[in-house]
Amino acid sequence: MSLPNNTILLTELQLDRIADGLTADGYVLFEDFLTPVLAQALLQEMQSFSELAFKPAAIGRDNLQQLNETVRSNSLHWLDGNTFVQNAYLAIMEQLRIGINRRLFMGLFDFECHYSHYRRGDFYKRHLDAFKGESNRVLSTVLYLNPDWCKKDEGELILYSDKQVSPLLMVEPKFNHCIIFLSDVFPHEVLVTQSDRYSIAGWFRINGSHGIKVDPAA
Ligand code: OGA
Ligand code: MN
Repeated sequence: MSLPNNTILLTELQLDRIADGLTADGYVLFEDFLTPVLAQALLQEMQSFSELAFKPAAIGRDNLQQLNETVRSNSLHWLDGNTFVQNAYLAIMEQLRIGINRRLFMGLFDFECHYSHYRRGDFYKRHLDAFKGESNRVLSTVLYLNPDWCKKDEGELILYSDKQVSPLLMVEPKFNHCIIFLSDVFPHEVLVTQSDRYSIAGWFRINGSHGIKVDPAA
């Protein structure tokens, strides 16, 4: 697989826009995040994995994990950087990590992400990605990979502010759109999707190590 040279590059302007959006609103929505070639390559890789490579999603971490299909029903596959396209995506997110740390001093330590596949009828009910002081996930990212998405497909992401019931923002899961938001500030949900829905959900984490507990685990 070969990609153009400029594929692994966020411009300083993009980084400024992200930092400004996070400072002003706590979230930022990009309509053309990656080069289309890379976005397409990620979608292709994701679709090439057999369903067996996708695990049903679990709620919680480590041994607290348990399946809870009443909360979410999508399936996921963690990126490990072992393929060229995964490596390219992780390199961009590393650039983003450094760019945000330089601008906002957030102390972002690492990044983890997974492909998510929602089949028709799948959803993810309202949740927070992190609770203040209880998790090291601080910044959430979702990149959407649906070239032909249209309104009847639904499966929009709804962002809420704090305990409000009325939506703050509705994000259509369109190809190469990317939403970045503070993990412990915005509850959000994925509405029931009417057709296959592809995305990469990721989290920048801070280093929560203390005493003998190493978190994130090495
Ligand atoms: C998540 C999530 C949103 C989306 O994976 O935690 O909220 O739009 N995903 O896929
Ligand atoms: Mn979430």
